[in-house]
Amino acid sequence: MSVNNAMTADFLRSAYGGESMAHMRYLIWSDSAKKDGFPNISRLFHAVGYAEWVHAKNHFNVLKDVVGDFTVPAGAVFGHTDIVQNLQGAIDGELHEIKQMYPVYLETARFQKENEAEKSFHYALEAEKIHARMFQVAQQAAEQKRDIGGEPIYVCPVCGYTESGENADKCPVCGAKREIFKAFK
Ligand code: FE2
Ligand code: FE2
Ligand code: FE2
Repeated sequence: MSVNNAMTADFLRSAYGGESMAHMRYLIWSDSAKKDGFPNISRLFHAVGYAEWVHAKNHFNVLKDVVGDFTVPAGAVFGHTDIVQNLQGAIDGELHEIKQMYPVYLETARFQKENEAEKSFHYALEAEKIHARMFQVAQQAAEQKRDIGGEPIYVCPVCGYTESGENADKCPVCGAKREIFKAFK
């Protein structure tokens, strides 16, 4: 895997930075949700945090032959308050990725015929759409001081596809077998 065009390389680094920070932020918010008595929303943050790790790893590996130091600008949500606000931060971050960041990065990679980058951005974009919906459902529950349901959450370790309960026979985004999905119970 490699990359030939500077703009796609910059976008991969920025996406790697954004995913890395999202991963960490979700683990922090997972911790808080648990302490605040929302174990299933805590588990959702943990599972989605794992999916963001998959995205970061995929972007990093597209660049694995590009050795060196870089300053990496990347968007990230900050703030650590109550669960409803944390979920709003999560929703805002996911929507930014869905509406602006990944569509632009994806089209750039396509234009520059960077097939590996295009795949990595496509995987992330599809997962973020699901994450935004899951966080919206969780926020509606949290606003009423309720937790979400206790069904297991599964994440595809190849692309980060995320689902609540067992729905798909194989990953609908990348085709991976569901036996390799990581379960968060
Ligand atoms: Fe992501
Ligand atoms: Fe996400
Ligand atoms: Fe997948």
